[in-house]
Amino acid sequence: MTLHSEDIQMNIYQCGDEAAKLLPVSFDEWEDRARKQLAAAPFGYVYGAAGSGDTHQGNVDAFQKYRLRPRVCCDTTKRDLSISIFGCKFPVPFLLAPIGVNTILHPEGELAPAKAAAKSGVPYILSNVSSISLEEVAKEMGESVRWFQLYPPKDHELTKSFLHRAEAAGFSAIVVTVDSTLLGWRETDLRNAYLPFLTGQGMGNYFTDPVFCSKLKESPEKNVKDAALKALEEGNNTCFTWKELDFIREHTRLPLLIKGITHSDDAIMALEHGVDGIIVSNHGGRQLDGAVSTLDSLPSICESIQNKIPVLMDSGIRRGADILKAIALGASAVLIGRPYAYAMAVAGEIGVREVINHLIAETELQLAISGRSSIQDVDKTLIIKVK
Ligand SMILES: Cc1cc2nc3c(=O)[nH]c(=O)nc-3n(C[C@H](O)[C@H](O)[C@H](O)COP(=O)(O)O)c2cc1C
Repeated sequence: MTLHSEDIQMNIYQCGDEAAKLLPVSFDEWEDRARKQLAAAPFGYVYGAAGSGDTHQGNVDAFQKYRLRPRVCCDTTKRDLSISIFGCKFPVPFLLAPIGVNTILHPEGELAPAKAAAKSGVPYILSNVSSISLEEVAKEMGESVRWFQLYPPKDHELTKSFLHRAEAAGFSAIVVTVDSTLLGWRETDLRNAYLPFLTGQGMGNYFTDPVFCSKLKESPEKNVKDAALKALEEGNNTCFTWKELDFIREHTRLPLLIKGITHSDDAIMALEHGVDGIIVSNHGGRQLDGAVSTLDSLPSICESIQNKIPVLMDSGIRRGADILKAIALGASAVLIGRPYAYAMAVAGEIGVREVINHLIAETELQLAISGRSSIQDVDKTLIIKVK
């Protein structure tokens, strides 16, 4: 993919007064537009976090502890944002994070980010709780890179079925999310009495699964609420332990990543249990209130992993500077979450593409202005801790 950061930038400048009518540029504007466009409950579902919201805020604030320290007089005419993970070259150092139940944000649901990702060459991680089935998403994405995120079900047969379906549909890695065996205490959703799954949204993979459907007393068409409750019960997998991770490891030939790690001891355990990649994440502050920020967790996890497997991170990434800071602290790549969710709510596929393009342009400009020409040149020497 050819990157044209200056072109994107100049196009915006040359729009003149028209620019005001265009789509937003900054994260805050996207969030604001989404707030105005969506009903309170779906907006709150994306915006909301666990408890006091401290973890969510802490994720964002953590980036302020670090400053970029640029070098000058470096030739940065040619720039390279590409990275390699599991032997695959990706054009930029970010992926789209798994975000479930997208039909609450846009009628196209997960097809909107899937198409935007495919057109930009950015890998897309499809959520287990997508409203659109993984097969439909795969069909829309053609040969483009996609990973499948799994909330490990209690039922091993269902686990095998999801893994098998993802492999058959051309997903090239499995991301097991381990920080959400229970739903966090989300006060916005409680206040709005809003759990979209209960109306069948976010059930695209469950309601099309032969193993899942074979265990229902009544079909989802007949009794959507009971079917949804059964799916949620599968996901409330509080007996999930490292042994269960071994089961998943044994039943997929795909690279396996574990998402939701913030403690270096867990990173070591995950490595010992055969994962191929770690995603440092606290679910965007939606699970454990008062938890450590992911940027603060990243250095010790990278230290304990010693480059044996890739360490990715998410939670709080809003702009190019954040991406560079995370990479400087040892991340191989980052995941973009809420920024694309808001953009999808505002303008569907076009909105997500806009966010992706702006992030690419901004990251590339940031890289060059900080005196580096390649993501490979980004290391600890680029940042300084100020707080
Ligand atoms: C509305 C919403 C839905 C999400 N759904 C999932 C999901 O289905 N699976 C998952 O592993 N993470 C899910 N996440 C967490 C994201 O993958 C990611 O970790 C988080 O958005 C990062 O935080 P940030 O968006 O504040 O940067 C969701 C996050 C949001 C905001």
